[in-house]
Amino acid sequence: MTVLVTGGAGYIGSHMVWELLDAGENVVVLDRLSTGFEWAVAPEAKLVVGDVADGELVGSIIRENKVDAIIHFAGSIVVPESVADPLAYYENNTSKTRTLIETAVREGVPNFIFSSTAAVYGGAGLEPVREDARLAPESPYGLSKLMSEWMLRDASLAHDIRYTALRYFNVAGADPKGRTGQSTPGATHLIKVACETALGKRPFMQVFGTDYPTPDGTCMRDYIHVSDLAAAHRLALQRLRDGGQSLVANCGYSHGYSVLEVIDSVRRAFGHDFEVRMGDRRAGDAAAVVANSDLARSELGWTPQRDDLDQIVNDALAWERILTSKNSARG
Ligand code: UFG
Repeated sequence: MTVLVTGGAGYIGSHMVWELLDAGENVVVLDRLSTGFEWAVAPEAKLVVGDVADGELVGSIIRENKVDAIIHFAGSIVVPESVADPLAYYENNTSKTRTLIETAVREGVPNFIFSSTAAVYGGAGLEPVREDARLAPESPYGLSKLMSEWMLRDASLAHDIRYTALRYFNVAGADPKGRTGQSTPGATHLIKVACETALGKRPFMQVFGTDYPTPDGTCMRDYIHVSDLAAAHRLALQRLRDGGQSLVANCGYSHGYSVLEVIDSVRRAFGHDFEVRMGDRRAGDAAAVVANSDLARSELGWTPQRDDLDQIVNDALAWERILTSKNSARG
């Protein structure tokens, strides 16, 4: 049995590949390398460069490798970009996922794990959000993912396929063994931006908004270590293989940190100060987005191992340093 990981050369996908290999699984990666990197794919995994919507290619991968599960990460993930170019997001995330599900059904792959997002909820309050909260995506990105969830739901009712959709909150950190991490240039995510600033890759960073209705006025998010997220997928895979029913579950730690708390943690990890400017609100940011993750814990038996902001930041900073030396070695 083999697991097909789409987007396995990307940030979360490359951690998933290591998680599966560490658990003794056979892994084949399908990635078109548009934002991912060949070097990010563990050497023990087979890499096929191609598109998830190429049904013929995916069909042959499934047959040749006896794939019994697909973990689908490939897709576009930048919220403002999705507002500027919605049709590209509906094509790349929704339409291509439809084709991939169709191929999975045609080839008889029984298990499908889908990378979804907290963005399906829209603006949440300070209270942790449960899976049955109102679904109101505020961006084409969120809607493109929600439509994929719905396609999976309907396909699983009509065909012999079961799925787990995991709704990620703010994924951060890097492999504690330093094998992979967040490597895409031009990142906008807070912890990556703060680490880049600390290391002098940016002259300063900005805090987007200090007048939110939160304890210190800056936005609160539920930051989850990427390795804990990968572990949740592995447990979801095991559960599906054991005959578990389809499931949609949040992945977060159920508590939020403010932008200023995150920056303080980066200062602690780095050991020196760096320039932080207080700025205006960024369009589309909700004051707080925090997961209720009871379902993942009870249904998947998920017990996070790295629920510690300082550890997330330390691992992110360590990876940023590795990336600096990788890039300078490449000239
Ligand atoms: N922030 C700053 N300065 C920066 C970068 C971010 O102050 O330079 C703030 C943002 O305003 C926000 C918080 O840090 O308040 C977190 O921002 P990120 O960009 O790191 O993450 P988001 O919460 O905007 O996005 C995350 C996921 C998306 C997902 C979205 C929906 O990364 O994939 O949540 O909830 F769609």
